[in-house]
Amino acid sequence: MTPGGLLLWVVLPYASMVLFVAGHVWRYRHDKFGWTSRSTQLLEGRWLAWGSNLFHWGLLAAVGGHVLGLLVPSQLTQDVGLSEGGYHVLAAAAGAVAGLACVAGFAILMARRAYFPRVRRTTSRTDIATYTLLAAMIVLGLVETIGVNAIGPGYNYRDTVALWFRGLFTFSPSPQLMASAPVVYQVHAALAWLLFALWPFSRLVHAWSIPLQYLGRPYILYRSRYPVVRR
Ligand code: HEM
Repeated sequence: MTPGGLLLWVVLPYASMVLFVAGHVWRYRHDKFGWTSRSTQLLEGRWLAWGSNLFHWGLLAAVGGHVLGLLVPSQLTQDVGLSEGGYHVLAAAAGAVAGLACVAGFAILMARRAYFPRVRRTTSRTDIATYTLLAAMIVLGLVETIGVNAIGPGYNYRDTVALWFRGLFTFSPSPQLMASAPVVYQVHAALAWLLFALWPFSRLVHAWSIPLQYLGRPYILYRSRYPVVRR
């Protein structure tokens, strides 16, 4: 393995993981009140509703696709009756819908930020870095799913990219598997580690603060009229 390959496919992922964990601990301890999405809903709501919903639901589906494609071994999907061809059709169709929703939502959110001056003014340098990485990740992901797998020659990333990815978590990385992958898969994966390294220092931390307790409520309770009496 070349030094460049080791740097990209072993050192970068582990450095990013360490920064991801340590960064979250640091941010929580030092910037608890800044742990927010820094929502601009009060400044503009209509574009946000469309953009945010399309982007977040598309991304959530794409995350599901990554779990199936990267974390679940292909033998397991075959054992439960999903053939290699079946997986390919599912990944291409569902991945394309997810990716297109994601890119449409992201485009609306970026257009909104450029179009409304008061939203634009809330945009920090970290936001710009985050959005640039996200845009590149989404476009490259779509090239993989639609360009390579749905209408292109196809590439079985479950035998290379996925094995390398899982190997990182069992401390047996196989950088040579990534070194031989098509360049679009390489850039997508390398940028992902940069995004994960930036994550704890950006507004993306809000992803870990979903108010799940709201799901069981008939309405959003902002403030109780009376103090809660605990026995
Ligand atoms: C090291 C981490 C990652 C790896 C190894 C990876 C790998 C892949 C692969 C192999 C595909 C093609 C799936 C297919 O054709 O069936 C893909 C698609 C995609 N990726 Fe990633 N990815 C990573 C992280 C991310 C992140 C952080 C994002 C966040 C924006 C992202 C966004 C997408 C999107 C939007 C698609 C297209 C839709 C889909 O197929 O789900 N990826 N990725």
